[in-house]
Amino acid sequence: MAAPGGTGPIGPFPARAREDPGEQEAYDKLRRRVLWSLPSGLYVLGSRAGDRRNAMTINWVSQVSFEPKLVGVSVEKPALTHELVADGGVFSVNTVARADSAMIRKFTKPVDADLGAMTLNGFAFHDGATGAPVLDRAPAFLDCEVRHALDVGGHTLFVGEVVDCGFQAAEDTPVLRMEDTRMHYGG
Ligand SMILES: Cc1cc2nc3c(=O)[nH]c(=O)nc-3n(C[C@H](O)[C@H](O)[C@H](O)COP(=O)(O)O)c2cc1C
Repeated sequence: MAAPGGTGPIGPFPARAREDPGEQEAYDKLRRRVLWSLPSGLYVLGSRAGDRRNAMTINWVSQVSFEPKLVGVSVEKPALTHELVADGGVFSVNTVARADSAMIRKFTKPVDADLGAMTLNGFAFHDGATGAPVLDRAPAFLDCEVRHALDVGGHTLFVGEVVDCGFQAAEDTPVLRMEDTRMHYGG
């Protein structure tokens, strides 16, 4: 997935590109490639507010503090996930087995939640300690309560404290990283 289209080059620009629209265009593309080159993981973010649950593909996830144990996730404002994390105050971070890479494409729009079958788009889940959905086939998960929400522009950086976590498969199960796919996000 590429950066949102329709906008011109986004500043600020270094001195060499400040005056020349062509240089600005070139710099904009260069910066995108550099940002894309930052290694990142690929996860499914579980969210819940009341009885509404969702699961979304996300790569902007990182631990951000030792003590307390905080994890930051940056979520697009228009996403259903944004509404649920803002309202519910909880989220789960699910790793994805490399063998399950096809799963990533199943969580790029609001899911079909079947509470009778306890599935999200057909994938079995259970509710974690916070109530956020945890995918049964995630090799590992973090269950988090939101402690901070920082408006960073088109996204909100939600910072959650880890209140529960676990492995659901062998600890050395290879997990998916962005570089294992042909996808990009951001840049
Ligand atoms: C590879 C990949 C990585 C993504 N990373 C993020 C991300 O870090 N943050 C985000 O808000 N959306 C990310 N998305 C986009 C969401 O998955 C997508 O916008 C989704 O439609 C929002 O889902 P929702 O409306 O069901 O919550 C990513 C999509 C893909 C395909």
